[in-house]
Amino acid sequence: MLSLSPTTLSSSFSPKTLNPNRKPSNLRSLTAILSNSHHETERGFQFDIGDTFFRHESATGRDLGVLAAALYKKSNKNLRVLDAMCGCGIRSLRYLAEAEADFVLANDANEECNGVIVGNLLRVVKEEEGRWEVSHSVANRVLAEKYVEREYFDFVDVDSFGSDSSFFRLAFDVVKIGGLLYVTSTDGFSSGGHRPNHSLAAYGAYIRPLPYSNEIGLRMLIGGAMREASVLGYHVSPLFSYYSYHGPVFRVLLRLNRGKPPHGIHYRFIGYCESCGHSQAISWDKLGQMKCPCGSDAPDSLVVSGPLWTGPLHCASYLTEMHTLAGEWGWLGDGTKNDLDKLLLRMIDESDPSLPFGYIQLDEIASRAKVNSPRLVTLMSAIQQNGYNVSRSHISNNAIKTNCPMSECIRITKDIQNA
Ligand SMILES: C[S@@+](CC[C@H](N)C(=O)[O-])C[C@H]1O[C@@H](n2cnc3c(N)ncnc32)[C@H](O)[C@@H]1O
Ligand SMILES: [Zn+2]
Repeated sequence: MLSLSPTTLSSSFSPKTLNPNRKPSNLRSLTAILSNSHHETERGFQFDIGDTFFRHESATGRDLGVLAAALYKKSNKNLRVLDAMCGCGIRSLRYLAEAEADFVLANDANEECNGVIVGNLLRVVKEEEGRWEVSHSVANRVLAEKYVEREYFDFVDVDSFGSDSSFFRLAFDVVKIGGLLYVTSTDGFSSGGHRPNHSLAAYGAYIRPLPYSNEIGLRMLIGGAMREASVLGYHVSPLFSYYSYHGPVFRVLLRLNRGKPPHGIHYRFIGYCESCGHSQAISWDKLGQMKCPCGSDAPDSLVVSGPLWTGPLHCASYLTEMHTLAGEWGWLGDGTKNDLDKLLLRMIDESDPSLPFGYIQLDEIASRAKVNSPRLVTLMSAIQQNGYNVSRSHISNNAIKTNCPMSECIRITKDIQNA
């Protein structure tokens, strides 16, 4: 019997642990039939998680993926999905039932998931319909095989652990041009700047600690994908970027496009001045002249990270379509803590292209201003009255995104608190 621990599988685990010639059919394995049943319900679908890796808290990431897949199906009429690390198969089930995928390949390297996955998919689509298949290879192997077989997909979901980025290039080989790639990182150490050599290896970005590290996690993931896509003569556009503190999980939906990006490239370095709190994007040709406008000559005050994605995290019109569809499906306003309505509206707000990367914690402004934190709504309206744009951040409840420089935020905050 195989004894692979789902939490330890990765791109680097030896394919020798699985028989590469075995073509696992959709038949349930004996071990899985004998394994414990643990039932869960999500969006009205009951399914078994058995002993597979499953997290309730990832439901919002699944909702977002299903909405995007459904929009794709509506506009392209056809939807072939590759769910490369499917666990119990809940995503595959939902891509079939809710996004009405024409075909889903549900893959998980762990053969012991077989019975659970097959049982779950049978709940929504009969095997005879030929709308799904289950396989058990490492993701890179499935992607490579599909590329060799010239079988392309509209939507590839890779729900990986850690900072696995080894699948990027193969994934771009099997995603159709105009198709979607939904990728993951759960590496909070790298986004927090605690493993710069690791983020450099995984995403080509040397990341140092920054006050908006959870946004950096999304930007390093997009940047890494962007770099790999450009090797093949493609570029990617982020349709949405979602951070969840459970994990943490960084999820990004990318559209694959042919050729270079149309409007130059938002792939630069980020500089944060610890002396004054000012952030700036640094282009490649300015690498030798990095200095904060505050003129600080305190040693090491300028913290530089990158290269990474410095453009908008999302596409507002795309998110608006997702929001409309979620409304049609009755998914909005359920009043729960993870309210999808609130999340999507906040993401739409922060898509404003005039807003720079990063967010500013109110506590940071208050501590630099040496006053108590103002109320978030009060500060936001004062910033707007001063002619700047501002939104909340979906990543942090007590932070703002704004094109108002830190020095101005401090002045405005002092005015509010001393008024
Ligand atoms: C985060 S879990 C998947 C959860 C699932 N997508 C969901 O939404 O419930 C990751 C899964 O990937 C599998 N896995 C790990 N490394 C893999 C690899 N290199 N190729 C394919 N599957 C892998 C694990 O067995 C595990 O079931
Ligand atoms: Zn400065």
